[in-house]
Amino acid sequence: MLSNAKKILNDAKKGKYAVGQYNINNLEWTKAVLETCQEMKAPVILGTSEGAVKYMGGFHAIVGMVEGLMKDLKITIPVVLHLDHGQSVENCKKAIDAGYKSVMFDGSSLNIKENVLKTKEVVEYANKHQASVEAEVGTVGGNEDGVVGGINYASLSECESIAATGITMLAASLGSVHGHYVGKPKLGFKEMEIYAKATNLPLVLHGGSGIPNEQITKAIAAGEAKINVNTEIQEAFAKGIRRYIEEKLDQKGMGYDPRKIIGTYAYKNMKDTVAEKITLFGTKNKAK
Ligand code: 13P
Repeated sequence: MLSNAKKILNDAKKGKYAVGQYNINNLEWTKAVLETCQEMKAPVILGTSEGAVKYMGGFHAIVGMVEGLMKDLKITIPVVLHLDHGQSVENCKKAIDAGYKSVMFDGSSLNIKENVLKTKEVVEYANKHQASVEAEVGTVGGNEDGVVGGINYASLSECESIAATGITMLAASLGSVHGHYVGKPKLGFKEMEIYAKATNLPLVLHGGSGIPNEQITKAIAAGEAKINVNTEIQEAFAKGIRRYIEEKLDQKGMGYDPRKIIGTYAYKNMKDTVAEKITLFGTKNKAK
């Protein structure tokens, strides 16, 4: 059964570790993440951007796939299926109607008043369905599946206004970027501490790929309890496919079988990347 994110994130905040949100793109992706998290007894959040939802067919297809895999693979860890960067109240509601127990309403491009109003509407709907809600203030830099932004640091008053809507977790943007960083990330650790304390909410770090390990550890200590990772898994996958093709394995025997193309290097690379993050974030053996 799918869980919401409330308990696992509050536990993470208390225990000073972070739960990874690993973005998924297809069945193999989902299976690789679920298997790795189960092996390491780590609670997990599966993130689906609106682009990935479209790519995989829709909300119902994804709910069916994730629930089916959980059953067949005998997954016992808490699994949260989460809409990443929901761009409208309607889409958040649609995800919940299809069975999602967690959504992000990304009103970061709106003014704070409008962001608060729409977030509140999502929270009210989510509460009726025991679903958790993430909201964003400030803006994450870079490009997440077509959601483009410049870096804008969140302010304390924005955090307090959005927290008052009753959200479960808060993406307070403090210098992180989706995709590749230009130079070293400049994260606002001091602000993280202040905002986490003022709102009493687990903070969400978007743009978790490419942040040096010591900065991740510092961010967790400062209050980040959910860390989103997409790009690094995509790169691990692409690297595995490239190696397979460069070694011309697709031209040997029945090497053209997609299960071999994906299953030889790319699958293992994805699993290794997720395992590294679980260790770094401190989530190993935290599944209750
Ligand atoms: P990266 O692609 O930089 O890992 O960011 C993922 C993310 O924040 C998804 O919301």
